[in-house]
Amino acid sequence: MPVLEISDLITAVDPRSGRRLPVSRGEVIRRLDEAGDARAARIVAGLPVDRDGLLDPCAVDSLLVGVHAELQRLSEELRIGDRLLHLLDPLFRAIRESSGPGPYRLVDVGCGLGYAVRWLAATHALGPDVELVGVDLDAALVAEADRLARAEALDCHFVHGNAFDLPEAATVYISTGVLHHFRGPALTEFFRSQAASPALAFCHFDIAATSLAPIGAWIFHRARMRHPLGRHDGVASARRAHSDETLLRAADVPGITPLLYEPRGAANPFCTTLRPIIGVRPQLEDPFRRSLGRAARRLFDADHLVGRSR
Ligand SMILES: C[S@@+](CC[C@H](N)C(=O)[O-])C[C@H]1O[C@@H](n2cnc3c(N)ncnc32)[C@H](O)[C@@H]1O
Repeated sequence: MPVLEISDLITAVDPRSGRRLPVSRGEVIRRLDEAGDARAARIVAGLPVDRDGLLDPCAVDSLLVGVHAELQRLSEELRIGDRLLHLLDPLFRAIRESSGPGPYRLVDVGCGLGYAVRWLAATHALGPDVELVGVDLDAALVAEADRLARAEALDCHFVHGNAFDLPEAATVYISTGVLHHFRGPALTEFFRSQAASPALAFCHFDIAATSLAPIGAWIFHRARMRHPLGRHDGVASARRAHSDETLLRAADVPGITPLLYEPRGAANPFCTTLRPIIGVRPQLEDPFRRSLGRAARRLFDADHLVGRSR
C-alpha cells in the first residue's frame, strides 16, 4: 500500500502555470481510505469545505504555513544550515577554482518557508558572489518566506513556481526534505532535469532510510509539533525515505557524478537523520574533493557504498 502525505493531497497546482486547482475533500479522503490510512482520512475530514465539498484554500494555506513553521524547528535542531554550509562552502570554492569568478546562483528547490536560504543569507556564509533564491510551487509558503526575509532585510529572494522553469539558470541546486516526494521515474527525472540545465552541481538533503527513522520521526514530531497533520506527515515522510542505493541509482544521469555524503554504512545509525545526495559535473569532482579536505573520506559513490571510501 502506498504511504501518502496529507500535505501532498490537500493542495494542487498546475505545474506549468502555477495556477491553484480546486481539491475535493471527499476525493482526498477516498484516496487515504484506499491507502488504508484511516487516521489521515479523519484529519482531512476535519478540514473546512465549501458547498461543493471543495477544500477552503485559505484554511489549507494557513494550516500548511503553520505546519511548516513547526517544521522549521526540525531544521534548527538538526542544524541544517551548518550541515549545508559544510558542503556548499567547499563546493563553491571548487567552482570558483575551476570556473573562474562569479556571480553564481544557488536555487533551493521546494524551499517551503525558505529556512535554508534565509539561514545562508543571514550568515553571509557563501559570500557576496552567490545569489540566494528559494522556489516553491506553493504560493502561500513562498509569500511567507518572502515576508520573513524582508522582516530581517535579508539579501535573498523567493519565487513562486517550478524550480526547473526559472528564466535564469542555477549554478547549484539544493533542497531539504523534498526528495521523498519524487517517486519512481519522477525521481530520475528530478535529477535528469538538473543535469540537462547549465547547473554545475546539486546537493539535496533528505531523511536517511534507516530502521530507526520512522520511530525517530514519531518521537520528534510528537515532541515538537502540535498539529496532527504535521505529526502524521512527519512519520509518513520517514517511511517514504529513499535508500542510499535508490538515490545513487536515480542520480546516475548523463553528465553528473553522483556521490553520497555520510551514507548509512558510514554513519552512526542513532545520529543519521538527513544526509545529502550530491551531484557534480565530472570535472568538478577532484577540485571538490580537494576543497573538502579530510571530510572527502565521507563521500561515497555507488561502487564504494558499503564501508570503503576512495
Ligand atoms: C516537504 S516541503 C519541504 C519544504 C522545505 N524545503 C523545508 O525543509 O521545510 C516540499 C516542497 O517542495 C515543493 N516542490 C516540489 N516540487 C517542486 C518544484 N519542481 N519546484 C518548486 N517547488 C517544488 C512543494 O510545493 C513543497 O512545498
